[in-house]
Amino acid sequence: MAEKFRILIIEDKKSMAEMLARTFEAEGYIALTSGTGEDGISKFLRDGADLVLTDLKLPGMNGLQVLRVLKEKRPLTPVIMMTAFGSIETAVEAVKAGAYDFLTKPFDTSHMLALVEKALESGKLAAENLVLKEEFARELSFPMIIGKSKALTDALELLKKAAPTRATVLITGESGTGKELFAKALHHLSPRKDGPFVAVNCAAIPKDLLESELFGHEKGSFTGAEARRLGKFELADKGTLFLDEIGDMALALQAKLLRALQGEMIERVGGAEPFSVDVRVAAASNRDLEKAVREGSFREDLYYRLNVFPLRIPPLRDRRDDIRILAEYFIGKYAAELKKGLFTISDEAIEALSGMEWKGNVRELANCIERAVIIADGGEIGPECLGLAPKFMDESSGSLQRTASIAAKAAEMEAIKGALAASGGNKSRASELLGVSYKTLLTKIKEYGIG
Ligand SMILES: Nc1ncnc2c1ncn2[C@@H]1O[C@H](COP(=O)(O)OP(=O)(O)OP(=O)(O)O)[C@@H](O)[C@H]1O
Ligand SMILES: [Mg+2]
Repeated sequence: MAEKFRILIIEDKKSMAEMLARTFEAEGYIALTSGTGEDGISKFLRDGADLVLTDLKLPGMNGLQVLRVLKEKRPLTPVIMMTAFGSIETAVEAVKAGAYDFLTKPFDTSHMLALVEKALESGKLAAENLVLKEEFARELSFPMIIGKSKALTDALELLKKAAPTRATVLITGESGTGKELFAKALHHLSPRKDGPFVAVNCAAIPKDLLESELFGHEKGSFTGAEARRLGKFELADKGTLFLDEIGDMALALQAKLLRALQGEMIERVGGAEPFSVDVRVAAASNRDLEKAVREGSFREDLYYRLNVFPLRIPPLRDRRDDIRILAEYFIGKYAAELKKGLFTISDEAIEALSGMEWKGNVRELANCIERAVIIADGGEIGPECLGLAPKFMDESSGSLQRTASIAAKAAEMEAIKGALAASGGNKSRASELLGVSYKTLLTKIKEYGIG
């Protein structure tokens, strides 16, 4: 279904406001109206809108004042100013103050609708870029890639060499080794760091939608394409596009991707003219792409095009020197997140961790430590907190009761987190889902330091 955009019309002339509202509704928008600037702002703050169309001349606050307030509250929401013929200076002033554009009355309906559509697209784009940047800034607020083993530092050295170039980097490694983390670091260390970092998981998107996800589509290009959509290539312009799980891409799309990479031109689905974008591509796969090439499920030419700069991240079991430093790092991270005090980890616990196989690599270790931080009572994490196979525990701490109570706590934690996620953080709803009283839930949340 197409998204329904909400448009707020601030206009004191009732007949005009109603006419505009009808026009928008006929186009599938939701229209809200308001007769004064003051009321418009409070409606906007209470009910939200994707775009505001405001008259300049209003009884109380004028359009310019309304614009200033809106821009301060929601800088990304596009505002279009309607002005009377002859007030062109004010219109220019409005644009300077952040209005998306202005319309001089009387205006042509189709011109107005085109302008609104364009403004909505720009608002969405700006929002998307901001989200990406914020996401990235969070990742960067703490040291990113932890590890001191030779295998990891060698990989980091290669990453630093690749970063300043535009070469396509192919990151391989088992699940949870840090491929996405490396891709983000690559972007951050590159001259494109102020541009967007856009990730696409090729395995998570249904096959027949991936093409339009990557390249975008024109309105009406296929059933369900009710509006034009920008592809990730376009969104990543001047930045880095991370194609995750590239080994899962269908052969036909691989051909189109190769053409895009070679010509640096992309074509929206149903679009007439290809256009150029400036994108640096990093790709990742936990599948053996060489084998896929031999088996015929991955194009050889695309493989070579991607593999300009291969970067292999070794599995954790091949760099056990990293286990302690990673464990300590994750303890600090989760203790802070869960607002628990300082923790240390005992040598026995490190020894137990070092003996594990870590099929899920760093992600598995991170999860293991998170659980330990949740259930540990005191300042030191011992092997009994790790939820590892009992053979790793010493006799005093590995009693059955203790093991059972740890497992129960961990399971409760997971259930509570799941219910909170499902209820969007609404605790009363979460308690219903869990079949416990609100009070019990609050006690558990506090006990486990969730949220
Ligand atoms: N060296 C590291 N230092 C700090 N954190 C790491 C390191 N390696 C991995 N991580 C963390 O482990 C988790 C898994 O990493 P990431 O998602 O990058 O792995 P991946 O290789 O992309 O996994 P998958 O193949 O399953 O997609 C992330 O939370 C990441 O931040
Ligand atoms: Mg990944």
